[in-house]
Amino acid sequence: MAATRNSHLDDTFYQPADSFFSANAKIGLTFDDITLATLFSEILPRDTHLDSRLADALQLNIPIVTADMDTVTESRMAIAMALNGGLGLIHYNMPEREQLSQVSRVKYHVQGLIQDPIKIAPDQLIGDVLALIEEKKFGFSTFPVVDDKGKLVGLLSGHVVKPRYATKKVSEALTPRMQVHTITKKELGKDPIARADKFFTEHLGIHKLLVVDDEDHLHGLITMSDVEKITLERKAQFKPARDAQFRLVCGAAVSATRNAFGELDRERILGHVGALLERGVDVVAVSTAHGHTKGVGDTVKVLRDAFPKLPIIAGNITSASGVEYLADCGADIIKVGQGPGSICTTRIVAGVGIPQMTALYVCSRAAAKKKVSILADGGITKSGDIVKALTLAQGVICGGMFAGCTEAPGEVIEIGGKLYKQYRGMGSLAAMKAGSAARYGHEKADATRKVAAEGIEALKEACGPVDRVLATLIGGIQSGMGYLGAKNLEALRSKARYIRVSPAGQREAAPHDVVELKTKN
Ligand code: XMP
Repeated sequence: MAATRNSHLDDTFYQPADSFFSANAKIGLTFDDITLATLFSEILPRDTHLDSRLADALQLNIPIVTADMDTVTESRMAIAMALNGGLGLIHYNMPEREQLSQVSRVKYHVQGLIQDPIKIAPDQLIGDVLALIEEKKFGFSTFPVVDDKGKLVGLLSGHVVKPRYATKKVSEALTPRMQVHTITKKELGKDPIARADKFFTEHLGIHKLLVVDDEDHLHGLITMSDVEKITLERKAQFKPARDAQFRLVCGAAVSATRNAFGELDRERILGHVGALLERGVDVVAVSTAHGHTKGVGDTVKVLRDAFPKLPIIAGNITSASGVEYLADCGADIIKVGQGPGSICTTRIVAGVGIPQMTALYVCSRAAAKKKVSILADGGITKSGDIVKALTLAQGVICGGMFAGCTEAPGEVIEIGGKLYKQYRGMGSLAAMKAGSAARYGHEKADATRKVAAEGIEALKEACGPVDRVLATLIGGIQSGMGYLGAKNLEALRSKARYIRVSPAGQREAAPHDVVELKTKN
């Protein structure tokens, strides 16, 4: 009964998207301006599904993408995101060649395979190895031994890395090559972890497996403890996002590059994206601040003609006509957001942009007609914002939420006993100088002359590994879905009902009138 009864009172106050946003057509609303009404639910948060198909050839297991920003997404972030079921978009503030190798690092990342293990030379002393362990604070003491050409010579076992043997040479103490267990890269096959797992079961007492090529050069190391950890993780609810060849998914941003005459540099764009595809990229993002432009549209068309099956993200826009234009040009996924980002100043500098929930509503209706997906890009500061965004969009793009993570580019900075990482807008002067000026319609050289920055340079508090941040966000999303009785994201989109929140209601939503205690974890 409770599931089907539809109270007239509820309908008056809590409205579905079409009637709610139409009734609020004269005002731009963002996340904190609205709240979602709960619904009868038989769905436990832990039973909800977060998979999202962004394009025919692009399926994610969680609907979260990290921004193509030079302080957010490079290969480490993209690997961490894909391992958790999401996607990282590698930024383009770097030489093309460097971006290609970043993509390769993601595509060839084998979870559990230490690609570049610490190696020891045969003529070193055990004492040198002990000093290295002490200096680098390694938590392990077994090392592959290779010659100066990278060929495997043997394995130095932790049993002999002891002060009493300090003056002995590694070559005297190592387990010789013939007795070391190895596997070739080819033999690892499509599922290296399953293969390694089988190996460890079959070889009692062996905890390390070395990976070599046909010439016996060392290419990696797999440990039994890593394999066991991963096997456990595989039973986790959210699986890594992988392509058909079992490689992690990876995205890359490209710019609508112009030649010396100011025309679109078709050859360069095609060369760049062609090379990205050779490296296995799964999706490219034509990323600019103003996507409803001839330059972005023409770039999408050129790419669509040349690469019919390639999933293309394009943006950013905040209008229905922007969605229609980019979809007609051939984009599959459209980025929605102009000025909501935590480091953005577009609305202040240029006086343009639309608060995110209104923009998402308008764009979602145009996207549904064109059968394309939209991504809510920018302004997300908490899991509740993601739940609200996902009532209209197929996924979200986050910058600031991940810029403090261990996997984000850049060093940790200590200020007043607290740890931070740099986070800067791609439209900040420093980022434009480093290459992103085209995204904001400027020449790179302009960045030193008269040009209006549309972003700031900032700091984010260091917040630990991506896994931890995502666990909190995903928990929040699942909780929101449970409150709405939505088993999956499609149900969330169709069931959501909204109401506006007064300023007092916004204050009520956060902890108030208490002194918060922070529990250390
Ligand atoms: P959050 O809020 O997640 O926003 O930190 C990330 C998104 O902000 C956009 N972006 C910018 N927008 N000026 C802008 O107006 C900038 O300098 C800038 N840099 C990034 C971008 O869409 C990103 O995903």
